[in-house]
Amino acid sequence: MALRAKLLGGGYYVPDRVLTNADLEKMVDTSDEWIVRRTGIRERRIADEDMYSSDMAVIAARRALENTGTKAEEIDLILVATCTPDMFTPSVACMVQAQLGAPQAAALDVNSACAGFIAALTVANQFIGTGYYKKILVIGAENLTKMTDYKDRNTCILFGDGAGAFVVEASEEGGILATDIGADGAGGRNLTSLAFRNDEAEIAKRVSGNKQTLWMDGSEVLKFAVRIMVQSTRTVLEKAGLTLDDISLIVPHQANIRIIDGAVKRLGISHDKAFVNIEKYGNISSACIPIALCQAIEEGRAKKGDKIVLVGFGGGLTWGSAVIEL
Ligand code: UT7
Repeated sequence: MALRAKLLGGGYYVPDRVLTNADLEKMVDTSDEWIVRRTGIRERRIADEDMYSSDMAVIAARRALENTGTKAEEIDLILVATCTPDMFTPSVACMVQAQLGAPQAAALDVNSACAGFIAALTVANQFIGTGYYKKILVIGAENLTKMTDYKDRNTCILFGDGAGAFVVEASEEGGILATDIGADGAGGRNLTSLAFRNDEAEIAKRVSGNKQTLWMDGSEVLKFAVRIMVQSTRTVLEKAGLTLDDISLIVPHQANIRIIDGAVKRLGISHDKAFVNIEKYGNISSACIPIALCQAIEEGRAKKGDKIVLVGFGGGLTWGSAVIEL
């Protein structure tokens, strides 16, 4: 029997501080009505100045370990999906390893932006499938509000902070049935945040002039997102030998309710088959899917034995989907 990575259980963390649409109305020329109608977002969570991705990742990871009765010493590998690390080095995964007290675990970050959690799950599934590792902690953690340009109304309404984590374990039953990951590097120019690179044209696009802030051509990304969510969902189902009728829930990346609605419509499935929490948290990049999956489990919408599609897309441009059996 082939070994697969089974999601034993998860945990998540979102900061207490809430940034509402009314707060944003005081910061940029926008309105609650516009934000809700165009994005579906009503509020998002913001980490304090002295809280970073690793801090949120550690809390989510501790909750995942506790919920699954797993000791930190049992973990072979810590994978952190993030595009907002505390530092260039050490990686967030190394910081988490130190704080959890898991010296035996290897640790690495995966940067695939909003598709990062699926990319990390795919990596975990490969390590488990070959028998190289038995237990892996897969985390999505983001501190996007520190990368947000709060002078740019096109983007500052979208993002929030948080982390979600899952313990995955080698299993002969259920688990990750198939994954599909990919990239369109040429489309990467549509969503950027600069590190060392001094690119005058890129810097000029930012209202704040700060090259580290995120700039996005929203309508280009939106068109890509709807197309790729539908395409990747169909691909991953085909790989798993399943159809949408076998799937009880879709947990999509939470970037814009119009993207989710558009994809659901094109896939021809009912709206309540998609898990949506965007109104409360906005877009938390790689943390969206693990947080949403944890909440779906808490609410009884995802149960043992259920087959679920996880699907995301984001900067890079990247995409990823997975069919899992809980
Ligand atoms: O996680 C993966 C990455 N992110 C995404 O997937 C996000 C994808 N994109 C989107 O969600 C949408 O493109 C946005 C929400 C960012 C923008 O919505 P849109 O319907 O694509 O609007 P638009 O960019 O075409 O702008 C329409 C109008 C513009 O005004 P004019 O030029 O028509 O006069 C914008 O200036 O809406 C204006 N606008 C706003 N108005 C009020 C843009 N942002 C705002 C705002 N409040 N916050």
